[in-house]
Amino acid sequence: MKILVTGGTGYIGSHTVIELLNLGFEVDIVDNLFNSKITVLDKIESITGKRPGFFELDLLNKSGLEKIFEASKYDLVVHFAGLKAVGESVEKPLTYYENNVTGTIYLLDCMKKYCVEKIVFSSSATVYGEQDASRLTEEMQTGIGITNPYGRTKFMIEEILKDVANSDANFSAIILRYFNPIGNHPSGLIGEDPNGIPNNLMPIIMRVAQGKSPELKVYGDDYPTPDGSGVRDYIHVVDLAKGHVAAINKMKPGVEIYNLGTGRGTSVFEMIKAFEKASGEKLPFVITERRAGDLAEIFADTTKAERELGWKAKLTVGDAMKDTIRFLYGK
Ligand code: NAD
Ligand code: UFG
Repeated sequence: MKILVTGGTGYIGSHTVIELLNLGFEVDIVDNLFNSKITVLDKIESITGKRPGFFELDLLNKSGLEKIFEASKYDLVVHFAGLKAVGESVEKPLTYYENNVTGTIYLLDCMKKYCVEKIVFSSSATVYGEQDASRLTEEMQTGIGITNPYGRTKFMIEEILKDVANSDANFSAIILRYFNPIGNHPSGLIGEDPNGIPNNLMPIIMRVAQGKSPELKVYGDDYPTPDGSGVRDYIHVVDLAKGHVAAINKMKPGVEIYNLGTGRGTSVFEMIKAFEKASGEKLPFVITERRAGDLAEIFADTTKAERELGWKAKLTVGDAMKDTIRFLYGK
């Protein structure tokens, strides 16, 4: 099976490409390297012994994209490419709508033209917006209370995929709603390496550990959670990558949606302790005001993914911390 992976040199994409290559799938990557580095290809090759095909191209370059589809017959597309910085999306909404939504429309158009009928799409728990419950199930209403344009691009793309499936009985889409991906490949060779200053907890912990930031700001200790800090469902990126393989093996016409998380919540204070345990070092932190738009506690209901995909996250936050430290310090 030949698979085109958009955004395949990025954090989640590169880990998924490794799983796909290890299982014998043929993989081509298309990425504009906006938020990733070409050297990831060498690392993928040294881990798997195989080098994926690579096209440096922006999805907004539609004629270039068509040439890629014209040159090879793909069986399926895994679509990771997108901008993902929540704060930046508030400042540059049009950039986000154009890159994420228009980029996806161009991709779907090329797929239609070249008779590629299967897509796996990277969505996010952000589409659930604000809910009364903390445990989120796929049937819950989406799109209400999303606090930023990034999140709305994910919601819009989900709706577009449903409309395309309604218009074409052969079209198959699996929408994967990721919770909070962390960690990296156990080799320590690849990991999350964002260009610019990160917003997410784990890359910030990494910066503090490296001395690039003086301390972690814990955004609030007065939430109605057991220790007062925010609770999220942190999933090891290798488990997440395996979730994509499970989805690819279960594709059928229509749209299916799955949460990819562990089903368990971990607080910010528990994350700090887990990092300290794995590294043997103290992580400096200060408690600050809550971050605007943050929810107290969310975690995935993974029943549907377990039942229908036969997939379950196996690795722990502790495993992710050990792998992160190996990526940071090579030990
Ligand atoms: P990433 O930034 O590491 O990877 C995305 C890749 O897409 C990058 O290599 C970037 O250069 C590329 N890209 C972006 N726009 C492009 C374009 N127009 N044309 C070609 N390439 C383009 O991000 P990631 O963490 O690996 O996330 C992958 C996907 O998963 C994204 O769609 C993201 O929104 C989604 N997601 C991520 C998280 C998370 O916390 N990391 C959570 C939920 C959903
Ligand atoms: N946090 C801190 N300090 C920081 C960064 C984060 O205390 O410096 C806390 C947050 O308040 C939250 C937890 O750590 O309680 C996780 O925060 P992240 O920013 O890592 O993740 P979020 O769950 O807030 O956001 C993530 C993705 C978004 C996506 C959202 C949907 O980054 O793209 O999940 O659930 F929209």
